[in-house]
Amino acid sequence: MTVPVIVDCDPGHDDVFALWFAAGHPSLELLAVTTVGGNVPLEHTSRNARVALSVAGVVDVPVAAGARGPLARELSTAEWIHGENGLGGPELPDPDAGPTPVPLDPRSATELIADTLAEASEPVAIIATGPITNVAVLLRDRPDLAPRIREVVWMGGSTERGNATPYAEFNAWVDPEALDLVLQSGIRFTMVGLNVTHRALVTSRVRERLAAIGTRTAGFGDELLEFFCRTNDEVFGMPDGPLHDPVAVAVLADPDAVEIVRTRLDVELIGSETVGATSVDLDGMLAREPNAFVAVGLDVERFWADVEAAVARLA
Ligand code: BDR
Ligand code: CA
Repeated sequence: MTVPVIVDCDPGHDDVFALWFAAGHPSLELLAVTTVGGNVPLEHTSRNARVALSVAGVVDVPVAAGARGPLARELSTAEWIHGENGLGGPELPDPDAGPTPVPLDPRSATELIADTLAEASEPVAIIATGPITNVAVLLRDRPDLAPRIREVVWMGGSTERGNATPYAEFNAWVDPEALDLVLQSGIRFTMVGLNVTHRALVTSRVRERLAAIGTRTAGFGDELLEFFCRTNDEVFGMPDGPLHDPVAVAVLADPDAVEIVRTRLDVELIGSETVGATSVDLDGMLAREPNAFVAVGLDVERFWADVEAAVARLA
C-alpha cells in the first residue's frame, strides 16, 4: 500500500531532498509537485523543483507554479542560506533540455492540485515544505476539494525558538495568515517544526553515506550539502546543517521514524515581535480543543536510512 502525495515546495536545498525522498521511497507515490515563492522568488523555486526531478530522472511527475508570495504580506526570502538562485553549490542543468527534461506544467498550482485530487482513486496527502500559501489558496478557493485531501503534513513552525526571528520559524513567519487559514479549515494537519528538524543534522557520516551511493543524484546532492552546511555554519553556527524538509516526508513514508502528538496549535498574527511564532500547547495550559498533530521526536538513524534508500532508487 502506497500513500499518494503531492509535494508543495520552495527549493531550497532541503526541499530538493524532500522531493527525492518522496519520489524514491517505495511507500509513497508522488503524483504532482507545486511550487511557491519562499526561499527565493517563484521563478527560481519552480525551476529548481524541475532541476531536482530532472537530475533524479523523475520525468513523469507534473510541476506547476503557484503563489508568488504570501496571502497578506510581502515575500521575505532566504538567499543567505540557499544562495541567489536558491540552490547554491552545483552547476544547475537546464531542466528543459538533456535526456530527462521536466517542463513546467501550464496549469497553476491550484489547477494541478485540483486535477490530481479529482483523478486519484483515493484521498491524496499534501506535503508542504515552504510557506503554506498554495494550500491556503486551494482551501479558500476550492473548499469542495477538502474531502479529497487525506491530510496536510507541513515543515514549519517550532515548539521552541525560531530561525527567522527569535520565536518564528521561516515558513511560518513568511506566511502566518496562510497557516492560520489551513489550521481553521479543520483538515488533518501535522506540523514538523525546528524542534525535530534540528535533529536531522547533515553530519560528515551522513554525507559520506549519501555520497557513497555513487549516482548522479547523490553526486548532485553532495554538492548541495556542501553549500548548505557552509551557509548554516556561517549564519547559525551549525556546520552540520539541519535538513528540515525531508522530515515532513518521513511522517508519511515511515511513520515509525517520527513521533507525533495531538495538541493545540495556533500561530501568532499580530505580535510586535512574535509574528509567525507557533503556539504549541503541549501541556494543555489553554484548555482549548486539540486541532493538530505536532512532531516531537525523530529516530535519526532510521530517518537517514530512509533518505538514503530513497535517493539510491533514483538515477
Ligand atoms: C525551512 O525554511 C527554508 O529555508 C527551508 O527550506 C525549510 O523549509 C526551515 O526553516
Ligand atoms: Ca523549504
